[in-house]
Amino acid sequence: QKIPATLIPGDGIGPEIMEAALAALEAVGAPFEWEEMPAGMGALKSEGDPLPGKTLDSIRRTRLALKGPLETPVGGGFRSINVRLREEFKLYANIRPARTLIPGGRYDNIDLIVCRENLEGLYMGYEHFIPIEGDPHAVAMSTGVNTRQGARHILEYAFDHAIALGRKKVTVVHKANIMKALTGIFLETAEQMFEERYKGKIQFEQVIVDACCMKLVMNPWQFDVLVTTNLFGDILSDLTAGLVGGLGMAPGSNIGADAAIFEAVHGSAPDIAGRGIANPTALVLAAALMLDHVKQQDKGDRIRQAVSDTLNVDNVRTGDLGGKASTREYTEALVARIRNN
Ligand code: NAI
Ligand code: MG
Repeated sequence: QKIPATLIPGDGIGPEIMEAALAALEAVGAPFEWEEMPAGMGALKSEGDPLPGKTLDSIRRTRLALKGPLETPVGGGFRSINVRLREEFKLYANIRPARTLIPGGRYDNIDLIVCRENLEGLYMGYEHFIPIEGDPHAVAMSTGVNTRQGARHILEYAFDHAIALGRKKVTVVHKANIMKALTGIFLETAEQMFEERYKGKIQFEQVIVDACCMKLVMNPWQFDVLVTTNLFGDILSDLTAGLVGGLGMAPGSNIGADAAIFEAVHGSAPDIAGRGIANPTALVLAAALMLDHVKQQDKGDRIRQAVSDTLNVDNVRTGDLGGKASTREYTEALVARIRNN
């Protein structure tokens, strides 16, 4: 049975790495029926709008999308397209798994998941300057907003997701000792929810964000699933991506009430776009997460295994990983692995 889904190739290296993701999905027999839609810089040029109505309509219909990186045009008053997508489809959970793919590095056997609140906190853009005596930027102010309901949504997702994946522990990361209201509400809600609904089903602990950074670098294996507010999640998920070899390997999913959008964590890499050398692994792994999401985890697992074998058994790697393979050579090796494994 076919599942309709929206496909956004995106800007820069987007179309190049999307080819790899589509090839991998086709090779495992993924059920998606694509509606290809424009967004980003390319859409601004071709449609006069970086986020055209027909693209939004498509996602409203399919409620499911695979998305390449989008460049937000600088100037011209455009708001980040990614932020607009999050708001439009209430994508409250940003889930970023970090797993070691190439053994023998600085950190081996990492298998972490960062669950980031995606709509609230200090990223709402409630910011302004206060001018004093001719200095227009004399004082800067930013207001963060976290709600009980917003905290509940992401915490519920994190606990349920952790339990569904057979994980051992959920760690809530906060700074409630200083930001007593803004991040205190998050910690308090987590503790309440654990007591009421999750006790006995999974372990639970809390840690302050700065200590968490230190612990992640010293001994990341003590953690399992981390759940936190928007700003901390943004920072921590880059840290955990760094533990497993950088942004070229990091997929992410944006889960919401109205849709789910899968993407690579990295951007459009304008410095290498069009040269056929980008590493498509992150988007390929995002495609695997999309298969998990539609309950076809066996196919997702086949993609993940093939990625691992391509990198480690066949030793086919792109330049960012110290290899010589082009995007296309890597893709061919990956597809061969999927077919022959
Ligand atoms: P970037 O992630 O595009 O690039 C940072 C560095 O990593 C560059 O040197 C790039 O060549 C390298 N890199 C990134 N992905 C790679 C890959 N798959 N293979 C090999 N090398 C890779 O970040 P940057 O330069 O800050 O942003 C460029 C554009 O992307 C901006 O317009 C930004 O707004 C957008 N962006 C979009 C995101 C999204 O759509 N989710 C996320 C982050 C940035
Ligand atoms: Mg970030």
